[in-house]
Amino acid sequence: MSTRDRARGTIVCISLCLSLALILISTAAVEALDNGLALTPPMGWNSWNAFRGEIDEVKIRQIAEAMVSSGMKDAGYEYIILDDNWMANPARDADGNLIADPRRFPSGIKALADYIHSLGLKIGIYGDRGTATCMNIPQSGSYGYEEQDARTFAEWGIDYLKYDNCNTVGNCISCDYKRMQEALADCGRPIVYSICAWGFQAWMPEVGNLWRTTGDIVDKWDNGSDWFVGIINAIDLNMRYARYAKPGAWNDPDMFVIGNGGCTVEEYKTQFSMWCMMASPLIAGNDLRNMDETTRQILTNKELIAVNQDPLGIQCTKIRDDGDEEVYVKPLSNGDYAVALLNRGEEEALIRVTAAEIGFASRPGYGYLARDLWQHSEFGTADAIEAVVPVHGTAVFRVSQVPVEQLPGHVAFAVETDTVVSAEAGFKFTVHLSNTGLKDVEDTAVTLRLPEGWEAEALTANRFSHLDVGEEAAAVWRIMPPPHAEGFNVVGVMVTYSDSAGARSWSKDVRLVVLPPEGSVYLSDLKPLSTRNGWGPVEFDQSNGETAANDGRVITIGGVQYNKGLGVHAHSEVVYDIGGSFATFAADVGVDDEVGSRGSVVFQVWGDNVKLWESQRLDGSMGPQPLTVDISGVRMLKLVVTDGGDGNAYDHADWAGARLLPRQ
Ligand code: GLA
Repeated sequence: MSTRDRARGTIVCISLCLSLALILISTAAVEALDNGLALTPPMGWNSWNAFRGEIDEVKIRQIAEAMVSSGMKDAGYEYIILDDNWMANPARDADGNLIADPRRFPSGIKALADYIHSLGLKIGIYGDRGTATCMNIPQSGSYGYEEQDARTFAEWGIDYLKYDNCNTVGNCISCDYKRMQEALADCGRPIVYSICAWGFQAWMPEVGNLWRTTGDIVDKWDNGSDWFVGIINAIDLNMRYARYAKPGAWNDPDMFVIGNGGCTVEEYKTQFSMWCMMASPLIAGNDLRNMDETTRQILTNKELIAVNQDPLGIQCTKIRDDGDEEVYVKPLSNGDYAVALLNRGEEEALIRVTAAEIGFASRPGYGYLARDLWQHSEFGTADAIEAVVPVHGTAVFRVSQVPVEQLPGHVAFAVETDTVVSAEAGFKFTVHLSNTGLKDVEDTAVTLRLPEGWEAEALTANRFSHLDVGEEAAAVWRIMPPPHAEGFNVVGVMVTYSDSAGARSWSKDVRLVVLPPEGSVYLSDLKPLSTRNGWGPVEFDQSNGETAANDGRVITIGGVQYNKGLGVHAHSEVVYDIGGSFATFAADVGVDDEVGSRGSVVFQVWGDNVKLWESQRLDGSMGPQPLTVDISGVRMLKLVVTDGGDGNAYDHADWAGARLLPRQ
């Protein structure tokens, strides 16, 4: 972390503590800024998470075009926001007017705004309340230039201003933000005002349309108590201020990291689910020009966007916190509730909530219609809603109270299979069905989606013409992977049926590991369930590098090179679901030679939350330490590297040759 970041972290900590104190002493209702804008949470894209300061007009035009062609505009996204580094260096002309970088924005911001408007979109820009932005571009701050800059923004056709908090003058933060708010109010153009001061303060709802409640987000699930927050840290901070959210005034837990590669798909779905539940601004932060279909589907989930954009504008409340299992509820304008079941834990969890807990008053003759907003399918239930939620995943339902006779049926299903299998023997795969609903259902069918080259032999029927309420059935297959299949694979299961209200379809992906013929599996060939890493992402078959994915080198400890292994940075935690089928974990560990003799760490191996092995404190001057650990019966294998108690500088640690060996 740079000195600037550290200093910023301290300042933020002080201001967070102060604002917390302010909230505690002031109980008076806070008026929201009334500029008639952002009556629902703003939706758009911002350049920072994908490109940092590397922006130019060609790229921004292409992003705007991709916002239209990808379907994001149709889904409701509208602002294209230029973050830091759009300005010239120095940033002002002889008259003190802000000017764009003539090399990267040769046509100027007005022309860019016109183009973005011609696509039916809006444009946002970035400024700073101090003398310079956070990238320290000379004269780029608006301190003392508020009115002039607001006029410039209006002349250019700007629709949204993100106003940052670097290089500040004096110590009246609310005065600085208020001056810009007044300047915007007088500039002759409606401009949404986004306060970026890295933590809530009590005056913010009266001054801005949205305000950051967190430090900067990074592309990680959990970044501990650092100023830079992971997805789960941003949720926790942002929930503290739930009561301040209302039309025109929103808590902002920072932008999406969805699609940027540092988290699992389930973690990205949780970011989207919870930002929708929290009535947070939906600001994408990936390169829209080349996003994959999974990312596109997450960002354009219209049913979840409708929850986010609900006109009541209420942020969800956490109604249950059982440690790893949490339930959040958001009232919606038509009397429905959105209900999110969030699993913070490292094992799949069954989470259940009753209608009374959600907030429904019971009504004779009525039950509940639960629409799953990720599966886009619905079921009827007399009372409780439950779901098996994957590691770091979130299930979201829109629940309505409906007369029992109008409710559809419900066939629940569960898959029974080994999770680690061998290609030669094949394996048995069972789908258990159960009509847990209030109606009989017809034409239930179970179908599988297999990876290429795989075959499934049906051992039982997999279609059932009628299932009574309460009736159970099972469909069983023997699945044969092709001879040389190995590593991580996904088998999709789809269950369809019809009930009085129509056809339903539900699906689930099952993750399987196929053992290679020689019988050991390198961890770097498997996808972890979750990762946490001190700097940059966990690297596979290379050292840590520090920042971007794939920026490492050949793993080397004390001059010994390894082709396979994990390159991490303290503090690091990497979790694998290994299905209880292996006997031994083996690796050579040590600090990578890329940091010379610096760095010192401790390695730990955990199985199902029990510490199985711990190294001595190892530093950069030591050679590789071989280890073998008995992991018989272990399902969740967690590899931890701590900073050895002396801070994490230079702590580049390698799990060289990390592999799982089966029982003999
Ligand atoms: C701060 C903000 C970020 C981003 C950068 C740009 O860190 O919090 O969101 O705007 O500045 O320098």
